[in-house]
Amino acid sequence: MTVIAVIGSQWGDEGKGKAVDFLAERADYVARFNGGNNAGHTVINEFGTFKIHLVPSGIFAKNAVGLIGGGVVVDPSVLIEEIEMLNKSGVNVDGRLWVSPRSHVIMPYHKILDGLYEEAKGKGATGTTRRGIGPVFADKVSYNGIRWTDFTSDMFEQRLEVQLTLKNKIITALGGEALEFNKVRDEYRAYYGKVKPYLKELFSIVQDGLKADKTFLLEQAMGSFLDTDWGTYPFVTASTTIPSAATAGLGIPPKYIQNVVGVTKAYTTRVGGGPLPTEIHDTESEVYKKFGEVAATTGRIRRVGWLDLEIVRTAAQLSGMTEICLTKLDILSGLKEIQVCTQYKFNGQTIRYADVDAYGLDEVECMYESFPGWSEDISKAKTFEDLPANAQKYVKMIEEAAGVPVKMIGVGPARDETIRR
Ligand code: GDP
Ligand code: IMO
Ligand code: MG
Repeated sequence: MTVIAVIGSQWGDEGKGKAVDFLAERADYVARFNGGNNAGHTVINEFGTFKIHLVPSGIFAKNAVGLIGGGVVVDPSVLIEEIEMLNKSGVNVDGRLWVSPRSHVIMPYHKILDGLYEEAKGKGATGTTRRGIGPVFADKVSYNGIRWTDFTSDMFEQRLEVQLTLKNKIITALGGEALEFNKVRDEYRAYYGKVKPYLKELFSIVQDGLKADKTFLLEQAMGSFLDTDWGTYPFVTASTTIPSAATAGLGIPPKYIQNVVGVTKAYTTRVGGGPLPTEIHDTESEVYKKFGEVAATTGRIRRVGWLDLEIVRTAAQLSGMTEICLTKLDILSGLKEIQVCTQYKFNGQTIRYADVDAYGLDEVECMYESFPGWSEDISKAKTFEDLPANAQKYVKMIEEAAGVPVKMIGVGPARDETIRR
């Protein structure tokens, strides 16, 4: 029985897309179980370069079947565009991509409200992707959501009418423009026509697959510390991001989730608001420029910081991590010294991540240890032994601190720039 959950151990963008694409060769099913198209997963392989938001990143493996679970929220225009793009790129998804009819649909008012709420919060804004994620999950848990299954009857129209009455009041009160029922209905009926061939209840697929000992690769969206409960609330996302979310979001019983790959960037990045204890503020520094990244979904500049071991350690404990996939080790090449936060102090006391809230985390003092760097280009390294001694030491230090072995190491963005250890 092989169920492998691939999760991010930081604040997202750890390189989950690449890890899933790498591991998918052995998978029968590749699945998304949480979040929506706020995710942006980069995959670089023989088909090209892709930034994927909804379709599982493992879809490039030709024998793998893609599943989008009921825990995922679906923006139909993004899904349709992604399917068309993949089909055009020679990755035929027809007949091997299934979307749960239980999944909730992102409506135009969700995106509008996301923006209006953010603007109302001003400086305290979360810095969302403005994809409607918070509002669609709020509707889901307050019984106001619209699911794909509603489109099979006139339930869609009935529910839309109620929702537009409610939502237009809020939108106009906040200075926005009311949405027209006919326009939204026609637009979404047309989307449904295109999504319909991909809709299928996943219960039997998942249960039969588990019974037949099939391999499932579960692709988390976001990172451990954007989790609604365990993240840096309110600077989080609206879905559960720890592996247990696959139970609700896909129907995989918890006892099957025994392999958890924690994708961990060799440094730290974050997009949007919220604490980042190891943040590097000097935008002119060599390290800031080296670590710099552009967000795959929104094109924003990612905030950067040194590796935070307390964060990785906490993620390992929360998710039951069984191995680490360390990414972007190549980016550290050329640094003379590498700083690593080994623990936090707060009012003179050593504390854990979980002892403070998001505002407290902004106040913690990071205890740094300095590690000697390496000057060699490591992008051609194929084995652990090919890495310079100091790079090997850096890897070993991480596995010791997290208490989890590092079994994959990324030395470049492409699929084959990966060391399997
Ligand atoms: P995800 O959201 O976790 O899938 O990560 P993103 O795709 O948003 O961001 C990760 C970025 O790092 C992307 O630009 C990847 O192409 C890149 N990347 C992933 N692994 C490596 C690696 O080992 N080395 C380098 N240089 N880039 C990597
Ligand atoms: P992947 O899967 C990084 C962040 C947003 C914002 C907060 C809430 O590519 O790692 P939301 O739109 O979800 O309501 O925004 O969460 N965020 C991500 N940051 N990677 C992601 O996904 C993210 N998805 C959401 O920047 O701070
Ligand atoms: Mg990303």
